[in-house]
Amino acid sequence: MSAPMVIAIDGPAASGKGTLAKRLAEHYGLPHLDTGLLYRAVARSMLDAGLSLDDESAAARAAASLIADKLADPRLRERAMGEAASRISAVPAVRSALLAWQQRFAANAVGAVLDGRDIGTVVCPHARVKLFITASAEERARRRHRELTLRGEETIFAAILADIEARDARDASRATAPLRAAEDATVLDTTELDPDEAFAAAKQVVDGARAH
Ligand code: DC
Repeated sequence: MSAPMVIAIDGPAASGKGTLAKRLAEHYGLPHLDTGLLYRAVARSMLDAGLSLDDESAAARAAASLIADKLADPRLRERAMGEAASRISAVPAVRSALLAWQQRFAANAVGAVLDGRDIGTVVCPHARVKLFITASAEERARRRHRELTLRGEETIFAAILADIEARDARDASRATAPLRAAEDATVLDTTELDPDEAFAAAKQVVDGARAH
């Protein structure tokens, strides 16, 4: 049997990494984990329990007791939850509680596709393939605006752009596991690419790694 194929996909908010990760997982027959959902679910369970997102020990407890079936909650995709997740994701104890969870997911016989902010750098530093997906902030805001509008959320483009810029700054500047490309990651800028082109480019990188 061939060695497990772990594909690590990182990038900033609304870069298209989620769509890409899902397609790669389907194409290669691998399980997929959207790790942003874990952080969103922790924030959601705190808000549901009436806890403040600034309460770091409550955030650590919520992360430690995260239950997998909470990940299916459609409210996790709401715009406000991205912001809430970004806030609690800066707490080191939250990150360490979720680290083991993610590593267990990746450690199976076939491999896995994981997408997030620190997969190639911290969660799966030995992943066979590492992709870092980016696009300009304006293009990401356009995509997120379109996606939320389709889902029926009323949003203003300028507010989405401001959100994305604030989130980039917070995710990239936190002390623990900040958003950055691993040194051995292939950077894919999708500003000028449609989803099919982005998939084709990513597939080429994965097939190249599989051939070795
Ligand atoms: O990918 P997303 O928009 O669902 O992520 C929401 C927030 O969760 C993101 O702004 C930062 C945090 N996050 C993280 O710190 N590390 C990850 N691997 C995934 C997400």
